[in-house]
Amino acid sequence: MTTPATPAPPRADAPIITMDKVVKRFGETTVLNALDFQVAQGEKVTIIGPSGSGKSTVLRILMTLERIDGGLIHVAGKPLWHEYRKGGLVPASEAHLRAMRKEMGMVFQQFNLFPHMTVLRNVTESPIHVQGLSRAEARRRAYQYLELVGMSGHADKFPSQLSGGQQQRVAIARALATRPRIMLFDEPTSALDPELVGEVLGVIQRLSEEHDLTMLLVTHEMEFARRISDRVCFFDQGVVVEEAAPEVMFSHPREARTRDFLKNFIDARA
Ligand SMILES: Nc1ncnc2c1ncn2[C@@H]1O[C@H](COP(=O)(O)OP(=O)(O)OP(=O)(O)O)[C@@H](O)[C@H]1O
Ligand SMILES: [Mg+2]
Repeated sequence: MTTPATPAPPRADAPIITMDKVVKRFGETTVLNALDFQVAQGEKVTIIGPSGSGKSTVLRILMTLERIDGGLIHVAGKPLWHEYRKGGLVPASEAHLRAMRKEMGMVFQQFNLFPHMTVLRNVTESPIHVQGLSRAEARRRAYQYLELVGMSGHADKFPSQLSGGQQQRVAIARALATRPRIMLFDEPTSALDPELVGEVLGVIQRLSEEHDLTMLLVTHEMEFARRISDRVCFFDQGVVVEEAAPEVMFSHPREARTRDFLKNFIDARA
């Protein structure tokens, strides 16, 4: 990992996520090409863009599931993949990454619930084993979030006994149960049958309206993106080509590539 020569110390009014010239390669392929990207505290940001443009990679890097090859990321004022030691930046230790991970919760396209655990245990697992909550406190908290996603009546079921939409709502409760400040959603509805998409989008919309969460969401649901986002970012080839408020992005995109992408999407849905 390359470390920038002169690290800028985090400022008090810094956004909750800052990516500075982030580089990510897989072998010979450069997936993120000096990406600059910021998200403010409480902001709801949607990332759109063609397949392979690096959308999931950005979320996976923030969740510390993928390392970076260059640049610097700050989350909540602290470096994510580095830490300060003796006045300089060094690559982050496992302990630092574990601490930073607590700021974030992630919801995946394929739900990724633990198949051998009940709904309740899926949601209490991390609060008990990572955060050290008592079993009783974790259960109380789990029911609070299962209630929020409309799944408290299914606490004793196993994931295989639930529909895709129900599994995804449990996955959202599970991510919320660690009380992250930032929620990352990677195409949370694209593995669902069309009739189940609405229930999951409804939960995410409620979260965005009623909770002071920072949300970063990758989606192909353009209507939904328009409705919930403070800002929409169009990614292509590992850079942000264009970003704007949804009403601007979906009516007057500036860049030809964005216009093409949105036109194709509308065509594909017509
Ligand atoms: N673990 C990996 N090993 C090798 N290449 C990878 C890996 N993960 C992603 N890539 C490559 O990185 C690029 C960006 O992938 P990424 O999954 O971030 O795209 P995406 O924008 O999320 O696409 P999609 O809309 O299809 O989900 C792609 O070319 C992909 O093949
Ligand atoms: Mg993806």
